[in-house]
Amino acid sequence: EGGDEAITRAPVVTVMGHVDHGKTSLLDYIRKASVAAGEAGGITQHIGAYHVETDHGMICFLDTPGHAAFSAMRSRGAKATDVVVLVCAADDGVKPQTEEAIQHARAANVPIVVAITKVDKDGIDIDKVTSELAAKDVIPESWGGDVQFVQVSAHTGQGIDELLESILLQAELLELKAFVDAPGKGVVIESRLDKGRGPVASVLVQNGTLNVGDTILAGYEYGRVRALIDEAGRQVKSAGPSIPVEVLGFNGVPEAGDEFVVVADEKKAREVAEFRREK
Ligand code: GTP
Ligand code: NA
Ligand code: MG
Repeated sequence: EGGDEAITRAPVVTVMGHVDHGKTSLLDYIRKASVAAGEAGGITQHIGAYHVETDHGMICFLDTPGHAAFSAMRSRGAKATDVVVLVCAADDGVKPQTEEAIQHARAANVPIVVAITKVDKDGIDIDKVTSELAAKDVIPESWGGDVQFVQVSAHTGQGIDELLESILLQAELLELKAFVDAPGKGVVIESRLDKGRGPVASVLVQNGTLNVGDTILAGYEYGRVRALIDEAGRQVKSAGPSIPVEVLGFNGVPEAGDEFVVVADEKKAREVAEFRREK
């Protein structure tokens, strides 16, 4: 399996940090900036992830509640994140969930890029926050460590471009590769039962391509892909590596963290799903 040559795929990023340190504001700022630039008119839809084009390349952000999704995926052995953006508010410093996020990233062996947020506020002490992070072994390059630190504000937009560049720089070191010409596989990032549309799963394709019409298997569930919807609410025919997409057509609701694969025939998919249920 694998077809032609591997391409460099976009990094997949999870934003983590303490409550109220600015995770959602940061994700919203990045999303709005990119939507305004590229996809005016599209109705943005929450599918648990979105991707942005920057001058230096594409980045995919998971915007599911970071810690919970991260834990769910890790407990199932799935690895959806290439880079963790560790958010730490300039006016609050390192807090319990900051430490938890550091531990999650370390345990999953995922590199960290630090975003010191809320730098537009008065009376902040960046050195103090930096020392607190350094005490947890998250040490900036300027202090002889190997972690990129970027100062940002989701209110003014300060530092956001630099943050995106830092993520891509970090990603380059990882040499992320994937095949396009292969059966799609990846991970379920969110799922729910929709009244009108039935089971809906947001998935992140990690390798290959997922197409409308494919037979898909994830955890205990399978089905035939009836429609794929991107984060702008548009129907698409396929999704390649590092592209998040909403999938309609599952017979039941797979769980966040389930790995999905495209399989050759529906009978096989049903057999595997049934076998897993019986175990
Ligand atoms: P939880 O999801 O509840 O953990 O919070 P969060 O980390 O997503 O934080 P959120 O983005 O909701 O921001 C919390 C508060 O901080 C809000 O009142 C924001 O307006 C404020 N805030 C976020 N980013 C900034 C910033 O860059 N500057 C300033 N001044 N305030 C900010
Ligand atoms: Na909040
Ligand atoms: Mg939030």
